[in-house]
Amino acid sequence: MRRIVIAGNWKMYKTQAEALEFLQGFIPLISETPEDREVVLCVPFTALVSLSQSLHGSRIRLGAQNVHWEKEGAYTGEIAAPMLTEVGVRYVIVGHSERRQYFGETDETVNLRLKAAQAAELTPILCVGETKQQRDAGETESVIFNQLAKDLVDVDQTNLIIAYEPIWAIGTGDTCESVEANRVIGLIRKQLTNPDVPIQYGGSVKPDNIDEIMAQPEIDGALVGGASLQPASFARIVNFQ
Ligand code: 13P
Repeated sequence: MRRIVIAGNWKMYKTQAEALEFLQGFIPLISETPEDREVVLCVPFTALVSLSQSLHGSRIRLGAQNVHWEKEGAYTGEIAAPMLTEVGVRYVIVGHSERRQYFGETDETVNLRLKAAQAAELTPILCVGETKQQRDAGETESVIFNQLAKDLVDVDQTNLIIAYEPIWAIGTGDTCESVEANRVIGLIRKQLTNPDVPIQYGGSVKPDNIDEIMAQPEIDGALVGGASLQPASFARIVNFQ
């Protein structure tokens, strides 16, 4: 049985105070959410400690947005896995397209980060996806298969989540058609050695398209950016029908 995982990626949004305010509004809205849905919030590093304390005993799991491959060292601006696990982090996004695009993340460093996360018993959420230009050139499948082949070398597929995030659909309001997302996710699954890896869709997921997305048989959840910042909209997504 594949797990259903709905994760919010807050990116570089929310101070600690704003994060706690979100939680106050959000928790009552998910009291009826079916138990078999995992709910994850991937928040800025500075909000991890206070959220972790406030989430104690709650069903919401905490995630970070990056992790370095060394346990410690002279890597200014990076964060190590033991620093995350110590404060109760269980999930970590790795290889988000914004990291690949703006911060020089490569498939090689993505692979190192995935392995370091797993060694620390964090569950990585690996992001893959094509640009508009690559899609228009008919390269969607080859780009994604190439990312998977390089990113997943020696990665344990029993402790892994994958997010298919077409780059052209991120933050644009231009969602990938759910049937097309389902098709690509089905192809991703065929590349895996473990068919039970949960595979999410990400890219302009909103309260008004989540039901259709989650009705697709290959799609096991969502990685949500903008619409995870407001309690009501993220709760509606978590409570998809
Ligand atoms: P949006 O939901 O804002 O398009 O962002 C998607 C995303 O990048 C999640 O990681």
